[in-house]
Amino acid sequence: MSDTPAGESPTTLIATVIEKYADQLIDFRRDLHAHPELAWTEARTTGKVIDALAGTDWEVTEIAGGGLIAEIGTGERRVALRADLDALPVEDLTKDPWASTIPGVAHACGHDVHTAALVGAALAINEVQASGLLHGRVRLLFQPAEEIMPGGALHLIQAGVLDDVHQVFGLHCDPSLDVGRLGLREGPLTGAADSLFVRLGGKGGHTSRPHLTEDLTFALGKLITELPAILSRRLDPRAGVSVVWGMVQAGAAANVIPGRGTLAGTVRMLDAVAWADAEHLVRTLVGQIVAPYGVSAEVTYQRGVPPVVNDVAATAILAGAVERVLGYHGHVSTTQSLGGEDFGWYLDRIPGSMARLGTRTPGGPTYDLHQGNLRVDERATCIGARVLAEAAVAALTG
Ligand code: NI
Repeated sequence: MSDTPAGESPTTLIATVIEKYADQLIDFRRDLHAHPELAWTEARTTGKVIDALAGTDWEVTEIAGGGLIAEIGTGERRVALRADLDALPVEDLTKDPWASTIPGVAHACGHDVHTAALVGAALAINEVQASGLLHGRVRLLFQPAEEIMPGGALHLIQAGVLDDVHQVFGLHCDPSLDVGRLGLREGPLTGAADSLFVRLGGKGGHTSRPHLTEDLTFALGKLITELPAILSRRLDPRAGVSVVWGMVQAGAAANVIPGRGTLAGTVRMLDAVAWADAEHLVRTLVGQIVAPYGVSAEVTYQRGVPPVVNDVAATAILAGAVERVLGYHGHVSTTQSLGGEDFGWYLDRIPGSMARLGTRTPGGPTYDLHQGNLRVDERATCIGARVLAEAAVAALTG
């Protein structure tokens, strides 16, 4: 039986529950922050989530290989809320009392906030359900391994977590946006991101006689500049393709043409249609660019993630949720980034929307994600919890 006063709205109930648990949610986030776990090793974090849901009506199922789902409610309609669990191989530079205790590992992408916010949403939805105000089922997706390719989203999808799910919602911290604001966008929010590794081979020799060799360093130089150039003419420029090399290696002496060379980089773009063509095109072009020099090329192309493409109706549900929590000025429009986010795989299957959760203290410094100095304004945790709970309840009511 619920002790909720008759006639109370889900919004009031959610706000009351989150206020009640606010300190615990912030402590929960700090604990995750102090004990970060890299992709596919999130056992402690998963255990903490299970502990936090103990004593509620959530039915928890661990997924073999990593991650867990939880479900509550009855009826045909089902919506999902997703958080990611993993941290990054980055040194925590904050010196906060709850700074990482694991050398070289830190929650530098805010996934600790996402997980704590979803736990908060779970506690609120539990009360909504107990009060008879939940008109369907909610499934929570606590996903491992967002930070590596291929990410944990595919692992969960293969485990069937999207079966019979109609919509999915998620949040991602945005340290360039003030706390108390959420960035929304219909359509594409992030970019497609793949990784590319090329190994060149050829007959080396003396730099005085390039004509008797296969001048691998010259071919490598052509590849560095020609591949991005040709892609800009072979893919729709509106796709915003961006090839950036992060690693180039060949040779050891000024007067020796080497026999081997490697280069690695990322291939990013804004558009899912262009992304479908990118791998084949890159593989073909690499071979064609180095062919005149007699150099061989072996391409390893790792397809990463598609763009996150937010559904219009689902984004409207998020906007309504934000307004109920923060008022009309709580949401702002946000821009598409070239960052990769494996939430895109869920939206490749079913409609949904991801919002950017402001974590900057107004007037405070702007941090960047994936940096060891990232600090979040902790009020974002409870705001995120309320917005996620509101979105789920509204998506079932709508
Ligand atoms: Ni992230």
